[in-house]
Amino acid sequence: MKKSYSKYIPFPGVPIKDREWPSKVITKAPIWCSVDLRDGNQALIEPMNLEEKLLMFQTLVKIGFKEIEVGFPSASETEYEIIRTLIEGNHIPDDVTVQVLVQAREHLIEKTFEAIKGAKNVIIHLYNSTSTLQRKVVFKKEMDGIIDIAVAGAKLIKELSKKVDPSTNLRYEYSPESFSGTEMDNAIAICAKVMEVFEATPENKIILNLPATVECSTPNGYADQIEYFCKNLPNRESAIISIHPHNDRGTGVAAAELGLLAGAERVEGSLFGNGERTGNVDIVTLALNMHTQAIDPQLDFSNIPAIREVYENTTKMKVHERHPYAGDLVFTAFSGSHQDAINKGMEYMRTSGTQYWEVPYLPIDPADIGRDYEPIIRINSQSGKGGAAYIMHSVFGYNLPKAMHPEFGAIVKNACDKAGTELSSNDIYQLFENEYLKNEYPYRLKAYHFSHESGNGHPADVFFKGTIQFKDQDYVISAHGNGPIDAFFKAFRDVSNEYELTSYDEQAISTGSDSKALAYIQIKNSNGKTTFGAGVDDDISVASIRAIISAINRLCRE
Ligand code: KIV
Ligand code: ZN
Repeated sequence: MKKSYSKYIPFPGVPIKDREWPSKVITKAPIWCSVDLRDGNQALIEPMNLEEKLLMFQTLVKIGFKEIEVGFPSASETEYEIIRTLIEGNHIPDDVTVQVLVQAREHLIEKTFEAIKGAKNVIIHLYNSTSTLQRKVVFKKEMDGIIDIAVAGAKLIKELSKKVDPSTNLRYEYSPESFSGTEMDNAIAICAKVMEVFEATPENKIILNLPATVECSTPNGYADQIEYFCKNLPNRESAIISIHPHNDRGTGVAAAELGLLAGAERVEGSLFGNGERTGNVDIVTLALNMHTQAIDPQLDFSNIPAIREVYENTTKMKVHERHPYAGDLVFTAFSGSHQDAINKGMEYMRTSGTQYWEVPYLPIDPADIGRDYEPIIRINSQSGKGGAAYIMHSVFGYNLPKAMHPEFGAIVKNACDKAGTELSSNDIYQLFENEYLKNEYPYRLKAYHFSHESGNGHPADVFFKGTIQFKDQDYVISAHGNGPIDAFFKAFRDVSNEYELTSYDEQAISTGSDSKALAYIQIKNSNGKTTFGAGVDDDISVASIRAIISAINRLCRE
């Protein structure tokens, strides 16, 4: 039986020898052109209305796009309306060029010229389809006929340009649409003819845009096409080579990156990869990939959440949770070992004075793109000891001693297993509070008093007196010690003498306008079993006593 995959025609490859792109690296940002308002918009279930287009345009300008394809003005009245609104409403900054798309057809070209009246900087983007398949099944024409269409379109544009007010700075772009499915020598031949019509020179370059209208090869195949095109195009120095990858195979970003290595100087794409079918190349990812390689992307994505909000509201599309840089979950680690490594990386960033971003598992500093550290670590049953301690530190400012991490981590893990869901930061705090700070059974500190008594015949200088409730019985205890903890431990021997102190840590925590003392105490019982307790109070001596009682209560419960 014939297998379903056998009906496909594999990508034929490009006759390129000594390809150079594999040994190149990207060193600078390309010229960016947003096609959100054209390719992106035409692919929406519900295209943007005028207000939404305007908001998207303003957002693109704010991000730093200097070339923005605003539509296909001859395609419909709404497309025409947006460009007129932009021009008449003075929405286009002087350093921004608006690009308009048009097919190589006379009446459409004429309408396009009407649409751009009064604009300062315009790129007229002419296209016609050139692929082997479209020639065969759509146009039923040989390549010469396809070249004639492009040449006729270019000639008409050239002619109509003469009538455009000289205050308009007009440039030209030509796309052999479905370039990725076109024989390279045919793509070069048609572009060379269009260049001749437009009389492109190194001072007055044409933009030749080479779309992977349908992505039909591994990204290296596209890179080969671009390098072959660049090397064989006559008068190469008179053209800006632009790429326009789509994402049918899910490798639009990789194709764009390799296309840049292969000689492209300009990229057309959209925010978060919106566009026909699987989308255009995602400029957010492309630009931030450069950012993480210490290259200035020349686009400002320092507030990704705000850009994402505009995108989602105007396109009614959603950014996927795992979308690079922008997805809800991309700065979240669930796995314990990842959490631990991130935790250590963050600590290293705080303490080492390094000038680089050196945090495992996080290729970018979330703060660079307006995202928070807070959701980096989320806690579920996969999480390890470091995760809960990280939340306590990063969200609540509690610096649990290192030796306490496994103990508290196990408490949290247990709670996650029981709940069967992720725990929020507040859930984790509640666990800490119930387990340590509000742990008042079987022992409870009912009353206490410390006095400092040096020079009265005692070598020690702190006296503790207090009332300890054990279940429903009260014990009044007192003792001298060489410090508050020592005095309390000695006094507590009247109740029980099976505990000894093994470690002590303290810190200040701020609670609104004032600060409190927090003590972490580890104790050992006569069987050698250790456990932690924690206590909080205005007074550090009292916080320590509360922490000791918290630890004893925890040991009593086991
Ligand atoms: O994908 C494509 O080929 C296009 C052209 C019109 C440039 O969007
Ligand atoms: Zn496209």
